[in-house]
Amino acid sequence: MSNKSILITGGLGYIGSHTSIELIEAGYKIVIIDNLSNSSIESLRRMEKLVKNNIPFYNIDIRDKDKLNLVFRDNKIDSVIHFAGLKSVNESTIKPLEYYDNNVNGTLTLIQVMKSNNCKKIVFSSSATVYGNPSSLPITENFPLSATNPYGRSKLVIEEILQDVFRSDHNWRIVILRYFNPVGAHKSSLIGENPNGIPNNLMPYIAQVAVGKLKILKVFGGDYETPDGTGIRDYIHIIDLAKGHIKALNVLVREPQILIANLGTGTGYSVLEMIKAFEVASGCQIPYEIVGRRPGDIAECYSDVTFAKNSMDWKAHLSLSEMCEDTWKWQSLNPSGF
Ligand code: NAD
Ligand code: WQD
Repeated sequence: MSNKSILITGGLGYIGSHTSIELIEAGYKIVIIDNLSNSSIESLRRMEKLVKNNIPFYNIDIRDKDKLNLVFRDNKIDSVIHFAGLKSVNESTIKPLEYYDNNVNGTLTLIQVMKSNNCKKIVFSSSATVYGNPSSLPITENFPLSATNPYGRSKLVIEEILQDVFRSDHNWRIVILRYFNPVGAHKSSLIGENPNGIPNNLMPYIAQVAVGKLKILKVFGGDYETPDGTGIRDYIHIIDLAKGHIKALNVLVREPQILIANLGTGTGYSVLEMIKAFEVASGCQIPYEIVGRRPGDIAECYSDVTFAKNSMDWKAHLSLSEMCEDTWKWQSLNPSGF
């Protein structure tokens, strides 16, 4: 394995922390940068406990060009996995400028610094949200793209910037990963998803109801055109997702190219199916009530996983019950998060 490092932006966050652990266990050297805007230093402590070693970390903002340059100067960076950014759809409608600044300007600064340090390999965290409301299912990578909120638009703009960068210089090696719905936690229960305040997403919400922090789950819409009337999504275990990044790094060492792949399981589950599965995994009853639809939500979304399998030799392995068991273990052992 090379003596160069992989730079992980946003490496103390939910997906970044789990990916960092998988990378270290696979023998990679890593360097993490994070501005702690949506994570805590305890995440780093837990990660270090897990790998029984120190992990190089810089508390910096990706928009700070000078400090970013110093990281490149002080470390031999082979490639970058870029997670850093803001991710709440709802918050992005209230603070669009913050979202464009963090996500778009942050990525621009990062790419500029990479270029000036002659590092031209990047894996970028995109999202299934770029497919908008798909006209059919499952979703393949060549589906039309659209955005209905600033968060989604920031991802679309970044994808286009990366396409332009590759068009202008074919020495770049770029992998854009479109995640579906990541859930679950590390088997050790040392790290997991740690949302600030009341969770927006289904799985952490269910977990907090199960542990007694929240009283009742509101199911957003019971009248969708789905078998049980509730929304269907493609939930993917965080460890499967993390491993997808190792496969993406293998793509980066092949010929220069830009590759775009869905990371999902290819199977959709409804909200009611998720509640049932969590009840079985946890042994807790999840009180819920069906309320009106959440504005902006779509009925159904799941991926076609053929391209990721063929191009990256990656597919998800972990089951829905493992997603629920690992979420439950993390939540019940860490009721207040980190
Ligand atoms: P997260 O908020 O847990 O992690 C992001 C990390 O980036 C945080 O630790 C935060 O402190 C850091 N960060 C934010 N802005 C920064 C900046 N300007 N400079 C330095 N650090 C900064 O989110 P996550 O769930 O781990 O998501 C990681 C990436 O994956 C994000 O880009 C997100 O948009 C994308 N994504 C997430 C999901 C999901 O459901 N979790 C789905 C699709 C795509
Ligand atoms: C899943 C299902 C809800 C909460 C969001 C972003 C997306 C991506 C992943 C970053 C839906 C229902 C939810 C609740 C509910 N993030 N639900 N009660 O909306 O598919 O995707 O996170 O890129 O961009 O939009 O995920 O977990 O919020 O919702 O009934 O309290 O659960 O209506 O059907 P979503 P989610």
